[in-house]
Amino acid sequence: MRTIIAISPHLDDAVLSYGGRLAQLASAGNQVIVYTVFAGTPEPPYSAAAEEFHSSWQTPDEPLRTRLKEDRAAVRRIGAMPVHGPFLDAIYRRDKQGAWLIKPGGDTDCGLFDEEPELTGQIAGAVEQLIIRHDPGLVVTCSATGAHIDHVRARDAAVLAAARAGVQLKLWEDLPYGQASPGMHPLPDGISLCPPEAEPVDALSWQKKLHAVSGYASQLDMLQCGAGHILDDLTSHAVRRGRGGSGGGNSPGYAELAWPTVFSELR
Ligand code: CO
Repeated sequence: MRTIIAISPHLDDAVLSYGGRLAQLASAGNQVIVYTVFAGTPEPPYSAAAEEFHSSWQTPDEPLRTRLKEDRAAVRRIGAMPVHGPFLDAIYRRDKQGAWLIKPGGDTDCGLFDEEPELTGQIAGAVEQLIIRHDPGLVVTCSATGAHIDHVRARDAAVLAAARAGVQLKLWEDLPYGQASPGMHPLPDGISLCPPEAEPVDALSWQKKLHAVSGYASQLDMLQCGAGHILDDLTSHAVRRGRGGSGGGNSPGYAELAWPTVFSELR
């Protein structure tokens, strides 16, 4: 038995992207912790972009309370322990001039990266504390497929913290965004990726993941990016990944994609 820490940018990402593997690791007797970085509770007033999200989530009053509650239930459904970080989601943050970082309908990608020079380091400090407290054998985080600024920050912070602590680090394929095969935002110096591995997920763990994803009720409409229902799209994607990774066997198992990493220089 060992401890595995998953660093999730938002309240849903770890379960969506790697929830099947995490469920399987937990049922094998490992302690699995899902630390969500951007789970801090904002104070009103909210930005116009945030108000738009709140109305689509149908959580106009206390949006984070609903989302934290959903996450606690969802993460437990995969047999893991939820831990919530104090950092604010990009829709609640401000740029160097004090204006809202994200405009309504505006980009959430890394064009905004220079606006918050301290933030990645602060997150890395929090992740390092978590590593010191729990002494994990493995840290897993997103690969920032799709380059959302919060995903890149969570990933880069996890890279920094895992490199300093000398802990093995893997990056998962961000879902549902990875279904459209967008590029991965460039990695920080000092880490290189090994070829991606399609990691098999057994049928029971896959069911646990789907049950957990359906627990993020406020987010499901927003996550719907394919033609089908999000749960069906995730399943077809996992079956595709399973075929690709199994060398063409005739049992179409489920799989989630992850890149093992190697640190080439410690900082
Ligand atoms: Co996210």
